Amino acid sequence: MTVRLSMTVNGQPRTAEVPPLKRLLDVLREDLGLTGTKEGCGEGECGACTVLIDGELACSCLVAAAQADGTRIVTIEGIAGRDETLAPVQRCFVEQGGAQCGICTPGMIVAAQRFLDSGAEPSDANVRAAIAGNLCRCTGYQKIVEAIQAAARERGGGA
Ligand code: FES
Ligand code: FES
Repeated sequence: MTVRLSMTVNGQPRTAEVPPLKRLLDVLREDLGLTGTKEGCGEGECGACTVLIDGELACSCLVAAAQADGTRIVTIEGIAGRDETLAPVQRCFVEQGGAQCGICTPGMIVAAQRFLDSGAEPSDANVRAAIAGNLCRCTGYQKIVEAIQAAARERGGGA
């Protein structure tokens, strides 16, 4: 049995005919060709598969396709500009050394962008809380925090 999904993905209407329990992570990667979203643990623990669903952070490995029907989804591909120039937060990750192997990076940047959009004070504690659901085995987190704070400074948020 399959269901026909209709979603808005990165601002575009998208449809897919998939089994209802197929993971949203796999729908994005296999049916919609959006391979920027990564799989780490596959169990909701690491945040590598993080996307926004109706503005909220979600682990796409834990979301069944049928649950995503009718929602607005933003993936890492939707963070960059339409012309594929890097978003400021992405550029800051590059400049500050916030990415090493890169597996955590798409989910980390989705979480970081949501934090920046919230307008919250980019203190160390606030930034670390914002990425608490995203595990990184490479960087030790400090460079990631500095990248997000640099992006916040560019937006005039201070740090
Ligand atoms: Fe989804 Fe780890 S792959 S939380
Ligand atoms: Fe490798 Fe974060 S850069 S897991």
